[in-house]
Amino acid sequence: MEQTFLMVKPDGVQRGLIGEIVSRFERKGLKLVAAKFMRITPEIAERHYAEHIGKPFYPPLVAFVTSSPVFAMVWQGDNVIGLTRAMIGKTNALEAAPGTIRSDYAVHTNFNLIHGSDSAESAAREIGIFFAPHELLSYTQTMGQWI
Ligand code: TYD
Ligand code: MG
Repeated sequence: MEQTFLMVKPDGVQRGLIGEIVSRFERKGLKLVAAKFMRITPEIAERHYAEHIGKPFYPPLVAFVTSSPVFAMVWQGDNVIGLTRAMIGKTNALEAAPGTIRSDYAVHTNFNLIHGSDSAESAAREIGIFFAPHELLSYTQTMGQWI
């Protein structure tokens, strides 16, 4: 069973979209196994976005994600990484397909509301940055047999 790291970024929190975004993954039938409302430090931002260090958008990206709280989560399910990336939509809101979170709510690439891991390797790495192993909860999701 796959797990992925999803995070409502400061723009989504400030705009009051935590519930709307979480609700989409709940209705899909995915399983929430960890969540944390927190402020990202510059150190966490650097680890999380290490692949982008040196790119022109990196300094404003770090300033943005550390600017106010985020809602960090781990979700679980079959193919959860690909499914949630598809539900989130492309990085650039102009290219995101209608019905995706970024298409429905975002206007600009730099304020695109939500982060989602892009591979199994990224998911394992990112979950490890934001959560301790004991914070990932193991429980029975009773609707699981229907999805
Ligand atoms: P990236 O990992 O390419 O996108 P995604 O979030 O879809 O995995 O980039 C990380 C974040 O950096 C992206 O969500 C928004 C920001 N960003 C910019 O501000 N400008 C850019 O040109 C790119 C590519 C990303
Ligand atoms: Mg990415």
